[in-house]
Formats: sequence, C-alpha cells, structure tokens
Amino acid sequence: MLNFGNNQMTQRVFSGFRPTGKQHIGNYLGAIQNWVSLQDEYDCVYCVVDIHALTTLETTEALREDIYEMVLDWLAAGIDPEKSIVFVQSHVPQVMELHTLFSMVTPLSWLLRVPTFKEKVKMQPHNVNYGLVGYPVLMTADIALYKGEVVPVGEDQLPHLELAREIVRRFNSLYGFVFPEPQAKLTSFPLVLGLDGVQKMSKSCNNHIEIAAPPQEILERVMTAVTDPARRYRSDPGHPDICNIFRLHKFFTPERVDEIARECRRSGIGCVDCKQMLAQSISSALEPFRQRRAAVIAKPNYVAEVLADGANQADAIAKETMEEVKEKMKLLQRAKLPVR
Ligand code: TRP
Repeated sequence: MLNFGNNQMTQRVFSGFRPTGKQHIGNYLGAIQNWVSLQDEYDCVYCVVDIHALTTLETTEALREDIYEMVLDWLAAGIDPEKSIVFVQSHVPQVMELHTLFSMVTPLSWLLRVPTFKEKVKMQPHNVNYGLVGYPVLMTADIALYKGEVVPVGEDQLPHLELAREIVRRFNSLYGFVFPEPQAKLTSFPLVLGLDGVQKMSKSCNNHIEIAAPPQEILERVMTAVTDPARRYRSDPGHPDICNIFRLHKFFTPERVDEIARECRRSGIGCVDCKQMLAQSISSALEPFRQRRAAVIAKPNYVAEVLADGANQADAIAKETMEEVKEKMKLLQRAKLPVR
C-alpha cells in the first residue's frame, strides 16, 4: 500500500493540466515525461483541472471527451495509477471551498498584476470573468489542498507559484501552520516549437504531432514542417542550428545528431531525407505509447476506473486538510455538532 497519509516520508508532487484532449509531443517533452519520471521518487498527484478550463472555454461541448483522451495519453505515456493519484479537479469539490477561504487572504492587487491575467484580458476582452482573476487562487487551492511541496511546471507558471507561496505564507501566519510552501520544479525541456518552426507547439496552431499518431500520420506531418528557409536546393548547405527539424532530432535521434548536423552542412543529406529520418525516430519513440494506448482502450471502463479510484484517494486527503483548515480558522465545524 502507498502511504498517502499525514506522516508521509516522501515529498508530495502536485501538478495540474487543463483538459486539452489528445496530447502532442510538445506536451510530452514539456510536461508528461517529467511527471512520469517523478513517480519513482515522490508521492505524485496529477490533476485534470477542468474548473480552471472554464475560465477560458467558450463551450464545454468537448470537455468530457478532452478529459478522457488526455488521461488516456497520460496512461499511454507511462503515468502509472498504481504509483500516482490521477483525478479530475471537480470530483473533489473541497478545492472550491478552499479557493473561497484563500480568496479572503489574497489582496486583489496581487492578482491584478499577474502576467497571465493581463495576457488573458488582452486575449478575451469580451470575457474578463471573476474566475479569471481568481485563477491563481484556485491553483493555490489545488496545490495546498493536497499539501503539494514540489510542483513540476513550465516557466510560464512561475509567477503563479510565487503567488501560491505568498498566499499560503499569509494563511499560515494568520491562522497557524497548515501548508508547506510549494516549490516549482522546472521541466527539463524548454519550449518545444511547432512544425511551423515559429510558434510553440500547440493544437490551436495546428503545428503539432499527436503522441497517439500512427507512423503514416507522423510522416505526413513531419513532411509539412518548415526547415532552414535559406536552403532552397538540395545542393545548398544547410544550417542545423536554426532548423526546427534538427531541434527535434536532438530530442528523438540523440545518438546521431552530430552526424546529421555534419551531413546537413555539407549537403550530404537533403531536407526530405532528414525529415524521413526524423519521422522514423519519432515513430519508434512513440511505438510503446501506441501499444499501451491500445491496451488501455481494450479494457472497457479502465480510464473511468482510474479516475474513480483517483478521486477516492484525493478525497481522503482533501477531507483531512479541510478539517485542519476549519479548526485553525476557528470556523464552527458542522461535523462536531450533535447528529440530529
Ligand atoms: N495553471 C496551470 C497551467 O495552465 C494548470 C494548473 C492548475 C496547475 N492548477 C495547478 C499546475 C496546480 C500546477 C499545479 O498549466
């Protein structure tokens, strides 16, 4: 049995991801890969943050499917529900309760200067909702409810983590110690560019390769990728340092990067050869994921069972934390009233 109780010896990792459906290699290199490797060293809690998604979603039509497909990819990529808690944020509603309590110790001025908030205001001026301002408070509640100490995230989330530390510090000093201060753990891969070589790899830019993609689709997608624009004919020497295909080779063909760079510079290989090689490397790297994905799909209800177990485990931790919070805050606890 895993020890997710209070006297845990191992530090707890908490991370969340918005439900974005099928995952791509940018998600894998930037986040999932890291989550998988942390499982052996920490008590990990991985959460599908569906409530956070509501701050920007225009419709929830695809929400259920997106949750399912994302969790399927997590499992395919090696998130192991025997080792980690995998659950959906809204299944443990105490997070919204803690969010409300935290909102009373968070000055509005802290929230208004968060860079992601300012960006969102620019991106969706027609929908600057109350939840959007509170986004980092809800994120703090996520981490704190499960007493997360280590939070693997990308660089863009650092201001949120800074704020999370300030909020729990304020809570602890007002009411007494309850929450450890969460530390960010940066993922080892910086930004993964999309096939256009310009923007971050993302579904919305349609410049991505899904981790569940079959080999033929990987090849077709890689073939559309932009390479070194200065290389117009096969006989032109290439510049691997500015080529996005080469960047991807570094991830997927690490054992041959020197050779590829050399051959590209002396026009020993052309872009088509180079892309075919990359498609091959990506395909073989993702082969075990495709197999595991198929095995998971073959077990009816497996994803649902994983999420149900995850919610039960998360629930137990959440109950304990909320009791502690209410005790420290001197709220009158309903659970301590006589049963009538
Ligand atoms: N804000 C994170 C993102 O957009 C998602 C998130 C929500 C999260 N709650 C979290 C990440 C708690 C880490 C910990 O990527």
